[in-house]
Amino acid sequence: MEEKKLRELLQSMTVREKIGQLIQLSGDFFGASDLATGPQEKLGIEPWAVQNAGSALNVLGADKVREIQKRHMENSRIPLLFMADIVYGYKTVYPMPLGLACSWDTELVKSCSRRTAREAAPDGAHVTFAPMVDVVRDARWGRCMESPGEDPWLNGVFARAMVEGFQGEMVPGENLASCVKHFAGYGAVEAGREYNTVDMSRWRFVQEYLPPYKAAVDAGCEMVMTSFNTVEGIPATANRWLMEEVLRRQWGFDGVLITDYAAIQELIAHGVAEDDYEAAKLAMNATVDIDMKTPCYANQLEPLLNDGSLDVKKLDEAVWRVLALKNRLGLFEDPYRGIDAEKAECLACNEENRSAARTAVQKCMVLLRNENQVLPLKSGQKIALMGPYADSKDLNGMWAVHGDRDAVVTLKTAFAEVLSEDTFATTAGCEMLDDYESLGDFGSYFKLGPTLENSAEEELEKSIALAKWADVVVFAVGEHMLQSGESGSRTDLTLPAVQRAWMERVLVHAKKSVVLLFNGRPLVLADWKNSVDAILECWFPGTEGAHGIADLLWGRCNPCARLTAGFPFASGQVPVYYGAFRTGRPADASSHSGRFVSRYLDCPNEPLYPFGYGLSYHTAEYSDLKLSDTVMRRGETLTVGAAVKNTGDVSGQEVVQLYLHDVAASVVRPAKELKGFQKIDLEPGEKKEVIFEITEEMLKFYDSDLQFAAQPGMFEVFVGRNAADCLVAAFRYETGR
Ligand code: GLC
Repeated sequence: MEEKKLRELLQSMTVREKIGQLIQLSGDFFGASDLATGPQEKLGIEPWAVQNAGSALNVLGADKVREIQKRHMENSRIPLLFMADIVYGYKTVYPMPLGLACSWDTELVKSCSRRTAREAAPDGAHVTFAPMVDVVRDARWGRCMESPGEDPWLNGVFARAMVEGFQGEMVPGENLASCVKHFAGYGAVEAGREYNTVDMSRWRFVQEYLPPYKAAVDAGCEMVMTSFNTVEGIPATANRWLMEEVLRRQWGFDGVLITDYAAIQELIAHGVAEDDYEAAKLAMNATVDIDMKTPCYANQLEPLLNDGSLDVKKLDEAVWRVLALKNRLGLFEDPYRGIDAEKAECLACNEENRSAARTAVQKCMVLLRNENQVLPLKSGQKIALMGPYADSKDLNGMWAVHGDRDAVVTLKTAFAEVLSEDTFATTAGCEMLDDYESLGDFGSYFKLGPTLENSAEEELEKSIALAKWADVVVFAVGEHMLQSGESGSRTDLTLPAVQRAWMERVLVHAKKSVVLLFNGRPLVLADWKNSVDAILECWFPGTEGAHGIADLLWGRCNPCARLTAGFPFASGQVPVYYGAFRTGRPADASSHSGRFVSRYLDCPNEPLYPFGYGLSYHTAEYSDLKLSDTVMRRGETLTVGAAVKNTGDVSGQEVVQLYLHDVAASVVRPAKELKGFQKIDLEPGEKKEVIFEITEEMLKFYDSDLQFAAQPGMFEVFVGRNAADCLVAAFRYETGR
C-alpha cells in the first residue's frame, strides 16, 4: 500500500482499532470457542481488544494461520501479524546458537537462518523472535545456549549474519522479519539467576553489552524486543534512556519495539509502577509499541488518552510503526501472502534441509580432548554406546519449540548405520537426573522422567559388561534439555551427579573412552575430564545431530569448531571470560609476592578451556608474527601477519584469531579483545601466511565520558589459535604530527 494510503488508514482508525494494533495475544485467544470464559477473562480484557489485536504469539501452521486470519478479517480491516520463537530452526532444527557460533562461519550461520525462514514462512510465520545476541559470561544462566557467546564483537558478527539470513529481501513466504533480543544486557543477570537484576556502569554497558544489538539494528533488523531486566535501576521496558535515547535517537531505529512476555505488567513487580495504568504509561513513554500478553495496553491506553496523560500523537507513532511493518510484509494487499500448506509440508525436514543441518553439526561440535588419538574411531573396532543420550530424541534443546522431535535422528540409529551388529552394542546406562522435580512443572508438555526401563543396578551391570566387551566406550551424557534455556539457571555446573557416579563405575572397565557431551552451557568438567580419552562437545545439535557427530567420530570430517564461550574450571569461578581487565595485581605479572595478587586459593584464574579453543585431527604450528610497522599514525593502518602450518597428516581448517590489548588508556582496557578472525583450509604440510589489517577503528573505545575514540599509546597485538595461545607483538599508536 502506498504510504499516503497507509497514513489515511491510520487517520481513519478508531482509538480501539489503534490500541488493538499494540496488543499481542497467544494462540488460545484465536479461534478458541471458550473465549469469553477462558483466556480473555483470565487476562481481563474486553472482546474488542481480541477482535482488534494486532498480532499473534507462537501460532503457526499454514491451515491454522489461514483460518485465524480469515476469521480475524471478518471483524477487522487490519491483518494479524504472526510472530514466533523460531530461533535456530523450525521443523528442521540446527545446532543451538552457542554451538552454531563455534563454527566461526558467518555464511553457515546465515544459511541456517535463511533455511529456517524458508521452512517457517509458508507455514504462516511473519516474524521470528531472533536473533538472541545477549553477551553471556556467566554459565550459571540457562540462556547461554541461545547466545553466540561471551564476546561483544563476535556476537555482533553473528547478529548481522542471522538478521541477513532471516530477512533476506523480505520476500513473503521466503523470509522472516527478525526481532533482535533481549534489549538490553539480559545476559548479565546477577549470579546467573534467571530474570535477576542487571546493574553495571553505563560505561561498561555501552562498551561490552550494547554492540551486538546495534549490529543487528545496523543490519536492518525489523524489530527489537525489550528485556526483562533493569538497566541502571529502571526495567528496560520502561527505560527511556535505553529505548528513546539510545535505540531510537542515537541508533536511528524506527521499527517496532515489542516487550518480552508480560514485561509491561511486570513493571509492577519490579516496583516502578503501582498498577497497570502506571505500567502502560511508562512503557508508552519509553516508545514500546507492542504489549506482549498483558492487559495493560488493552485496558489502560484509553484512560491514559482520556485523562490527557497520553498524547494521541504518541499512540499514532506506535501504531504507525506496526502498520508500516505489516505493509512491508505485503499483508494489506494479501493477508494470506506467503502461506502455502503444500510448500510447508514439502520443506519440513526435507532432505536438503537435513543435509544442511548435518553439515552444520559437523562444523559446530568442539573437540575438547583427544588423548592417544582415540579419535577418529577405526573401522572394525567394537563400540559400546551408553548413557542417557544414547537413544534420545531430545537433541533439539529447550528453545526449538516448533522443532519436529520425531524427525530427530538418535545416536543409536546413526551408530547402527556405521557399525555391524557384532561391533555395536548400546544401553541407557543411567538416569538423566536424580531429581526431575527441580525442572519445574511442564505438565504433559514434556515427558520429564525417570525414563530407565531396568533398575539402576541392572543398567550398571549391563554397562560394565559392555565396557569389558568393547574396544571403545562412547558415553552420551549431559544436562537434561530443560536444565538450560529460559528459567534454566544452575549454581552447580557439573554433570548431573547420577551420571558422574555411573560413568566413574564404568570407566575402570573401559579400554578407551569417548564422551559425547550434550549441554546448553559451558560445564565444569575438571573433576573427570582426565579420566577419559576424548571429549566432543555436542551442545544440543538438533535434527541431524547424531549423523553429524558420527561423521566426526569416524573421521568422515575433521572437527574445526572453536569455543565462543570459555569453559570454567569451577562453578565458583564464573563469570570467567577472556576479555577481563588486568587489575592492579595481575596474577601473571605483579611485583607482589605469590599470595598477594589477584587469584583464588583453590582454583586457577583461567578457564579450563579458553575462548577460541578447540582441537582437530590435524595439528598446526603458528609462527613468524610480523608487523608492517611498529608505529601507527593517525589515519594509517598496519598489517600483521603470521604463518600457519598444518603439521598433521589430514587436511583441516584453522580459525586464526586476531586480538588487541590497549596497554594504557584513560580507562582500563581488556587484556585482550577479539578484533578479527580468518578460517583457513590447510592440506597436510601446507603453510599459509595469514594477514590482518589493523585499523584505527579497531583501537577505539568508550572513555569515561562515553566518547568513542582511539587514544595514543602502546598496543599489543596477538594472533593465535585461541585467547590463551597466541603470538604477540607490539606497536605504538601516535596521534601527533
Ligand atoms: C520468553 C522469552 C523470549 C521469547 C518470548 C516469547 O519469555 O524471554 O525470548 O521470545 O517469551 O515466547
